[in-house]
Amino acid sequence: MTEKKKREHFGSKIGIIAAAAGSAVGLGNIYRFPCVAGENGGGAFLIVYLGIVLALGIPMMVGEFVIGRRSQKNPVGAFKALAPDAKGWPLIGYMVVLCGFLILAFYTTVASWTLESVYKSVINYYHGKDLATIEQGFNDSINLTVRPLLWQAVFIFISAFVIAKGISKGIEKYSKILMPVLVIILIVLCVKSLMLPGASEGAKFLFKPDFSKIDSKVLISALGQAFFSMSLGMGALITYGSYVSRKDNIVTTSLMVGLSDTFIAILAGIIIFPAAFSFGIQPEAGPSLAFNTLPMLFNQMKGGYFFCLIFFILLVIAAWTSALSLLEVVVSYMTEELNLSRRKATIYSSVGVFIISILAAMSLHDGSGLTIFGFTVFDGLDKITSMVLMTLGGLLTVLFLGWKIKKQDFEDEFTNGGTVNKRLNKIFYFIIKYLAPVAIAVIMFSQFLM
Ligand code: PHE
Repeated sequence: MTEKKKREHFGSKIGIIAAAAGSAVGLGNIYRFPCVAGENGGGAFLIVYLGIVLALGIPMMVGEFVIGRRSQKNPVGAFKALAPDAKGWPLIGYMVVLCGFLILAFYTTVASWTLESVYKSVINYYHGKDLATIEQGFNDSINLTVRPLLWQAVFIFISAFVIAKGISKGIEKYSKILMPVLVIILIVLCVKSLMLPGASEGAKFLFKPDFSKIDSKVLISALGQAFFSMSLGMGALITYGSYVSRKDNIVTTSLMVGLSDTFIAILAGIIIFPAAFSFGIQPEAGPSLAFNTLPMLFNQMKGGYFFCLIFFILLVIAAWTSALSLLEVVVSYMTEELNLSRRKATIYSSVGVFIISILAAMSLHDGSGLTIFGFTVFDGLDKITSMVLMTLGGLLTVLFLGWKIKKQDFEDEFTNGGTVNKRLNKIFYFIIKYLAPVAIAVIMFSQFLM
C-alpha cells in the first residue's frame, strides 16, 4: 500500500494520451520513417508497415501498458513482480533498460541536427540557397566538432531537467499543448509539397507499392521501424503504464496513440517524398531527406522563414518528449531498483548518454574510424537497437504476457476489472499469445533464411 501511495500518476486521461503520444511521435516519424521507407522501396514498405502497426503494434502497446499498470513498476521491477518465481524473466527488464539508454545516445545526435536547424532558421541561413549549398552546409555541420556537441549537451540538459522534476508535473504539461500544433503545421506542409512540380512521382513512390520489392530486409526494417516509432519493445510504455490510473482505458489510449503516430509518419512521408523528388533528392538519401528537403520546401513558401523556424522548434519538442520517455525508463530503474535519488539517477544516466552520444556523433565525421560491426557507431546503435534489441524485447514481452502471467491478470487490466473492452479482450489476447510471437519470430529468423 505504501508503495502505491508514493507512486505518481498521470493527472488525467488526456495526460496519459499526450504523454504516450509524446513518446511515440518524434524523430522516428519525421526523420527515421522517410529514411527507412526510402531505403526499402517506398510503397511496398508502407503496406508492410501498416499491417504490422495494426496487427501487432497496437496490441503490443496495450500489452506493455498491462505489464506497467499491473506491476506499478519500472521494467526490471515489473518483470520481477509479475513473475516472482521465475529467475530468467527479469533479464528482459535489464535488456530493455539498456536498449533505452543506447537509443537515447544516437537519438541525441539526431536531435542535435534538429537544434542546428533551428539555429540556421533563426539566422535565416537557408534563405535563397540552392540544394547543393544546403547539403554541403548540413555535412559541414555534422563534421564540426564543437557546435553539434554543444547542441547534444543542450538537448540532454533539457531532457534531464524535466525528468528530474518528476513525471506528471514535467512530462504531461509539456506534451499536452504542443503535439496538436505540430500536426497543423504538418498538414500545411503536405499541401505545399504536393503542389510542387513533379510532386506526383514522389506520391507514387510512397503509395504505389511494388510488391516484388518485399523481402526479408523490408520485413525486418518495417518491424524495427514500427517498434521504434511506437516506442515498443524497450520498456518506455511499461514505465508509462505504471503511471496510468486504474480508471483509464488502455485499449482506447493505445488505439489513439498508435493511429496518430502512424498518421504523423504518413504525413511526413507525404511531405518529404514529393518534395524530394521535385528537388532531385534520392529516396535513399537518409538524413538529407528531412534535414535538406524541408528547408528547400520552406524556401518556396510565403512566410517560409517563420514556418521553417516553428517547424524545427516543434521537431525539437517532439524529439524532446520522446527522449523524456527514454530517459524515464533508465531513471525509474535506477531510483526503484538501485535506490538512488531521482536527481542522482538523472545526472548519472544523462552523463552516460552524453558520453556515448559523443562517440555516435564523432563516428559520422569523415574518416573517424569509429565503427561497430562494420557500421559507424551511430548507425550501429540504430540498427542494434531497432532490429535486434527492440524486436527481441517485443518478442519476449509478448511471450511473457501470453505464457507467463495469468490470463486472468491480463483480462483484468485489459477490461478494467470487467467494466470495458470485454469483447476485444479475446482477440487481443489471441494476438498476443499466438500471432505476435510467431510473426515476430518469423520476421526475425527470415533474415537468416532468405
Ligand atoms: N518513438 C520515438 C520516435 O518515434 C522514439 C522512441 C523509441 C521513444 C523508443 C521511446 C522509446 O521518435
